[in-house]
Amino acid sequence: MSDVNVLVLVGSLRAASVNKQLAELAVEAAPEGVHLSLFDRLGELPFYNEDIDTDDVAEPVAALREAAARADAALVVTPEYNGSIPGVLKNAIDWLSRPWGNGALKDKPLAVVGAALGQYGGAWAHDETRKSFAIAGPRVVEDLKLSIPSKTLDGKHPRESAEVSATLRDIVGKLAAEVG
Ligand SMILES: Cc1cc2nc3c(=O)[nH]c(=O)nc-3n(C[C@H](O)[C@H](O)[C@H](O)COP(=O)(O)O)c2cc1C
Repeated sequence: MSDVNVLVLVGSLRAASVNKQLAELAVEAAPEGVHLSLFDRLGELPFYNEDIDTDDVAEPVAALREAAARADAALVVTPEYNGSIPGVLKNAIDWLSRPWGNGALKDKPLAVVGAALGQYGGAWAHDETRKSFAIAGPRVVEDLKLSIPSKTLDGKHPRESAEVSATLRDIVGKLAAEVG
């Protein structure tokens, strides 16, 4: 298999974000030949507005779309906000969904994982992120799932959990194998 490039998007802007830490772990734990790159500028995107989605989009939007175009697949790592997708991530989905029917992630495999405080680890947000991305253009790999109740990490970096590290590595490997 030739090398696979995976775009990583994180649905939390918080400096000490557990989901950002999970994304770091995914980068570290990626199997050989799989290269993950975190696009960490979602907070710079303007709110989606068709009036500014022109040939001359804001630079952070162009950067996101270029990063998506370079990728063969995408991994989304997100918490849950009020039972749903954090706004910063939903905004990125909306930008990536255009041009309609021809977005930069069109037909590329995409998996959603993450951690949240609640007992289901953000599973509602993860399901809704899958639903929204499936409409937006990528090919969502529905059975690659990981929703971690963050209390189970005991305040430690997720890389200190052998189980989380192994599961994430497995998910990244299976996501890369979907590229074809
Ligand atoms: C505005 C807001 C809404 C939240 N809503 C939920 C929720 O619906 N379910 C949940 O499990 N956790 C919820 N939480 C708690 C987050 O899961 C927790 O803060 C998590 O650590 C955020 O992820 P991060 O560490 O990557 O920033 C919410 C937190 C915030 C700030």
